[in-house]
Amino acid sequence: MMPATLNGRNLLLGVTGSIAAYKAAELVRLCKKAGAEVQVLMTPDAARFIPPLTLGTLSEREVLVEIFPENEDGSWTKHVNLGLWADLFVVAPATAQTLAKLAYGFCDTMLTATALASRCPLLVAPAMDHDMYLHPATQANLERLRSFGVEVMEPGYGELASGLVGHGRMPEPEAIVARLTEKLVEIDASAERKDQLTGKRVLVTAGPTREPIDPVRLITNPSTGTMGYALAAAAHARGADVILVSGPTNLATPTGVTRIDVTTAEEMHAAVQQHADVDYVFMVAAVADYTPIETAPSKIKKDEGDLTLRLRRTPDILATLGKNKHNGQVLVGFAMETDDVLANAQRKLEKKNLDWIVLNNLHEQGAGFGNGTNRVTLLRRDGHREDLPVLPKRAVAEAILDRVLG
Ligand code: CTP
Repeated sequence: MMPATLNGRNLLLGVTGSIAAYKAAELVRLCKKAGAEVQVLMTPDAARFIPPLTLGTLSEREVLVEIFPENEDGSWTKHVNLGLWADLFVVAPATAQTLAKLAYGFCDTMLTATALASRCPLLVAPAMDHDMYLHPATQANLERLRSFGVEVMEPGYGELASGLVGHGRMPEPEAIVARLTEKLVEIDASAERKDQLTGKRVLVTAGPTREPIDPVRLITNPSTGTMGYALAAAAHARGADVILVSGPTNLATPTGVTRIDVTTAEEMHAAVQQHADVDYVFMVAAVADYTPIETAPSKIKKDEGDLTLRLRRTPDILATLGKNKHNGQVLVGFAMETDDVLANAQRKLEKKNLDWIVLNNLHEQGAGFGNGTNRVTLLRRDGHREDLPVLPKRAVAEAILDRVLG
């Protein structure tokens, strides 16, 4: 017996014209068994692969296909009402055609119009032939959908209806139901945390700094800024007023976040000082500790023998904040260590007068610069310590906020 993990949930299931549409019958059955109300929306092409009667019988609701009602009975706002009714919208299978429409806001069928009118999260499970899936147009559409916050379930690898072997198989219905269940738990948790930081000001620093040697050379490090940007987005999602002081990165500014771009450690120091009165500081940036004493005004030409660079210390931005910490302010540092990791991190926490330090161990798998994932240890001022598992950086950001906000 399947546990009723979707009890009382309202699901919109979009089914599109892929051979995998036959799997939608099993998907509807599993969702219903788990306690969900399921409204199926089919594209006209999907109805050529599986009769609406099958999905309508299994879901115990009339399957909707056309946006315009047949009998013009005044039910024109159905797509809007359904969009408000649903807790989650899943499109499985999602064809290249429907993905393209969703990516560009088309609303020519009941499915696409409802997707545009929905406030709930959208999850898509692409299913198509290998080359269609890997085509740059499809990949770009998926990227665009991800940038709107749509979750893409990666298709499996295996034998396809065309006889080819490749990527493009729709995930099995059991796996989709498992993900839907998990996602609804995440949605509930994020609804609870939505106002946790309302009225609070949060400063996040991110990325590397660049210290110029001459107009064409610089001292920097491989930080991509991903962890800091994830924290800024997560804090904003919890209602905070977020200022992101960023070194050079290729990342897009998270929606709703105020970004201040800087290049050098000095510039970062000045920008942080301007906002030093915030409630929370997350100093994620990988600040260069040294900068050339002089920046040559023109390119240094190479010569016989070695070149000696003379460097001086940059300001310790976090230590300055620690010295002037105001009542109730929470300072969180990040430490990148390779040896004696715990002792070094603890020492930094005390020396810089921090409340928390997040320790990255460069030698741990899944941690460090540029990875989509991170593995960190959290140390609190009172000596409490917690090792987090390897997680995507956004999940690490959420976990850090959960702990720091208590
Ligand atoms: N930090 C800072 N200003 C600096 C250097 C570091 O604010 N000039 C901050 C980092 O953003 C991080 C914390 O201090 O939050 C620890 O950084 P890390 O580079 O690990 O430590 P350092 O203080 O530079 O010490 P060490 O070089 O001895 O490891």
